[in-house]
Amino acid sequence: MNDASASAFRLDDRVALVTGGTRGIGAAIARELAGAGAQVVLTGRDARIAESAAADLRAEGAAARGFAYDAGQPGAWSRLADRIAGEVGRLDVLVNNAAVLRPHVVARLREEEFDELFQVNVKAALFLTKALQPLLQASAHACVLNITAAGAQAPMAGIGAYCASKAALVNLTRTLAKEWTPLGIRVNALTPGSTATDMILPVDAERRERFVAEMAAQNPMNRIADPVEIARAARFLVSDAASYVTGHVLVADGGLLA
Ligand SMILES: NC(=O)c1ccc[n+]([C@@H]2O[C@H](COP(=O)([O-])OP(=O)(O)OC[C@H]3O[C@@H](n4cnc5c(N)ncnc54)[C@H](OP(=O)(O)O)[C@@H]3O)[C@@H](O)[C@H]2O)c1
Repeated sequence: MNDASASAFRLDDRVALVTGGTRGIGAAIARELAGAGAQVVLTGRDARIAESAAADLRAEGAAARGFAYDAGQPGAWSRLADRIAGEVGRLDVLVNNAAVLRPHVVARLREEEFDELFQVNVKAALFLTKALQPLLQASAHACVLNITAAGAQAPMAGIGAYCASKAALVNLTRTLAKEWTPLGIRVNALTPGSTATDMILPVDAERRERFVAEMAAQNPMNRIADPVEIARAARFLVSDAASYVTGHVLVADGGLLA
C-alpha cells in the first residue's frame, strides 16, 4: 500500500464519539478508532464504567475520555451534545452504536418494551445526531456511522420490534445522507451479523456453546464475528478511505444475508 492509501485509513487529529463504547462492538470500535489516531469519547450509562473503559484505552497510549449517557432518558442527547461542545469543542466522527435488544414474540410485546427499543435504538440516535450537527458541520472530515443489524433486512422471529427499530435506523441513515452530504457530512450504516458480545451470548456456558453453534450455522462462514472484525469495517467507513461513500449500508455478517 502506498503512503497516500495508508494515510487515508488514519484518523489523526480527529475527534470521534462512540455511544455505548464500554463493551462489545462499541468498545472494539472505540479501540480501533483510537488506534488509528483519533481522540475518542466513549459513553456508557454509568459515568464510572465509561471513565474506566476510557482509562483502559489511555493505558494503551490513546487519547480517550468516558462520558455518561443513558439514551433511555429523555433529553440525554442534548446534555451529551452540550458536553461535547463545551468540554471537547469539536467533533469529526459520530458512531451511533448504543442499543438494546429485548427478546419478545410480537403477541406478547409490551408497550414499554416497544417504547424503550425505539427510544434507545432510533430516537436517541437521531436526536443526538441532530444535536451534534453544528459541530459536525464545522469539520472537514465529518461523518456519522449508525450501527444497525442484519434483522433490519431480514426480520427474525423473537426480536421483531428490535429488527423494526434497526430498519428505521437504516431508513433514516439514507435520508440523512441525502440531506447532509451536501453539507459535507457523510452518513453511513454498518450492519453486523451475529457478534460475540453480551448482547446476544447466554451467560450459562453450556447454553452459550449451543447458541454460538446455532448462530454460526446460519452463515456460510460457519462462525460468529469477533467484535474487532466489525470495528475494522467501522474504521474504513469513518476514514478518508471511504471519502466517496455515503448513504451506504455496509454488511459485515459472514454472508448471512447473501
Ligand atoms: N452483538 C451482535 O450480534 C449484534 C448484531 C447486530 C447488530 N448489533 C448492534 O451492534 C451495536 C453494539 O451491540 P453489542 O452487541 O456490542 O451490545 P452490548 O454488548 O450489549 O453493548 C451495548 C453497549 O451500549 C450501551 N448501552 C446499553 N443500553 C444503553 C442505553 N440505554 N443508553 C446508552 N447506552 C446504552 C452499553 O453500555 P453500558 O451498559 O455501560 O451502559 C454498551 O456499551 C448495537 O447497535 C447492536 O444493535 C449487535
